Amino acid sequence: MSRLVIVSNRTPSTGPAAGGLAVALRKTLAERDGFWFGWSGKLSEQPPREARFEEVDGLTVGKIDLTRQDHHAYYAGFSNSILWPAFHLRLDLTTFDGQWYEGYRRVNTRFAEALRPHLKPDDVIWVHDYHLIPLAAELRRLGARNRIGFYLHIPFPVADTLFAIPHHLELMRDLSHYDLVGMQAQRDIVAFNEFADHQAPLSLSGDPLKAVDFSKTIVEAFPIGSDPDAFARLAVSPAANKMVRRMQRAMDEQRLILGVDRLDYSKGLPQRVEAYEKLLANNPQLRRGVHLLQIAPPSRDTIKEYQHHSDQLDAMCGHVMGRFAEPDWQPLTYVKRAYGQPSLAGLYRMARIGLVTPLRDGMNLVAHEYVGSQNPEDPGVLVLSRFAGAAEIFEDALQVNPFDTDETAEAMRMGLSMPLEERRARWEGLMRAARTHSVDNWAARFLDRLGAMAGRARQRNASKGGMPTIARDVLHLGSGTEQPSAPA
Ligand code: G6P
Repeated sequence: MSRLVIVSNRTPSTGPAAGGLAVALRKTLAERDGFWFGWSGKLSEQPPREARFEEVDGLTVGKIDLTRQDHHAYYAGFSNSILWPAFHLRLDLTTFDGQWYEGYRRVNTRFAEALRPHLKPDDVIWVHDYHLIPLAAELRRLGARNRIGFYLHIPFPVADTLFAIPHHLELMRDLSHYDLVGMQAQRDIVAFNEFADHQAPLSLSGDPLKAVDFSKTIVEAFPIGSDPDAFARLAVSPAANKMVRRMQRAMDEQRLILGVDRLDYSKGLPQRVEAYEKLLANNPQLRRGVHLLQIAPPSRDTIKEYQHHSDQLDAMCGHVMGRFAEPDWQPLTYVKRAYGQPSLAGLYRMARIGLVTPLRDGMNLVAHEYVGSQNPEDPGVLVLSRFAGAAEIFEDALQVNPFDTDETAEAMRMGLSMPLEERRARWEGLMRAARTHSVDNWAARFLDRLGAMAGRARQRNASKGGMPTIARDVLHLGSGTEQPSAPA
């Protein structure tokens, strides 16, 4: 059986897994032969060209160090000050610096050069997220003929926003070097097709010409999930119970409204706090009876937009405290720290409302984890942004427009007064969906699809003597993004 090589910016040893990506992939690789490859988390003046390999929690992990300058341009710069905000439709939060793209490409080249010597011809390579879009092109340049898949964990932007990203055409051409590109939701595929249809200047003959040829790349939605049954077990574990007992002492009879998010402007936290303020303002009878706990571990805090956002949230939480707190009651607790999965599972289970209201999100695994952790006899209510990829899966959530804080406040009120029977019925639907879209099914679907493309990959390589076949010049684009794959 082919080995699986997972490539992502972060590797399992680079700190607690704050994002969903690391949690999901650890499990996938643990069940297969292969290794993980990525940045070591270290910066050095003259990083060695070769990767070093270590065992981390039973996984083999290959790592490279980066220079401070390259890392800044690649991570804080092009990835997180251009791609991240733009892909989340926040062009207003982008910063354009001409040097960053060079650094981004240089790091991708470094990844490819360090990874290439460790590849066997049959390895299946699975590249993750926006930091590494050019990696397949770089590996192909070095002669790698492997099947290479890419998974975008964040949303794909609408065409007009994509066009505003510097070097977007190179990035799209880079994507066409993958055999399979997976995205979170159907809306991402629609946006991708919108790009594919609109990248068309007219040729002299009047026929639209397309700048990138995706005819050898399959682009499909593979919604990621969690392990809901593992969360169900974790939520009643001794470690979870310890947190629950602590909270019960603090909460007394109050009902818990819970948010758990990286401290990121895409998560809609200011809007969430404003909605909670409206809930308390419009429903005085709820005061002293509810409590909002927002857990928000800091993230990317060297970037000024993240610092502003953090300051803004501090001020808003302070404002709500000042307006509603009493000497013996506080309306909310805001915790800027990460907690382990067992504690979170216990909190999810306690929470009458799981508040997942990003302004835009690839999927949002907190929604999945909240559902998995509920007590089937007395489940809570998921209030979910319709702009999270999860909204395509969780029809039984109370879906809201997170920009409309009146609507979110009303959804919280409905959730708090929802009869047990309706809560159970909705939760059963949610749990069914969470199981259908479990992380195991996600990985199996993606890897089966990529594996089934072996014939096509071989055929392509045989016909071109191993050289990349995706044209670098202007080519006609096929009618759709998905092409039938040749039989193996
Ligand atoms: C999101 C991204 C991941 C990223 C994670 C944490 O989930 O899709 O690629 O790893 O956030 O962000 P960070 O910048 O700390 O890696």
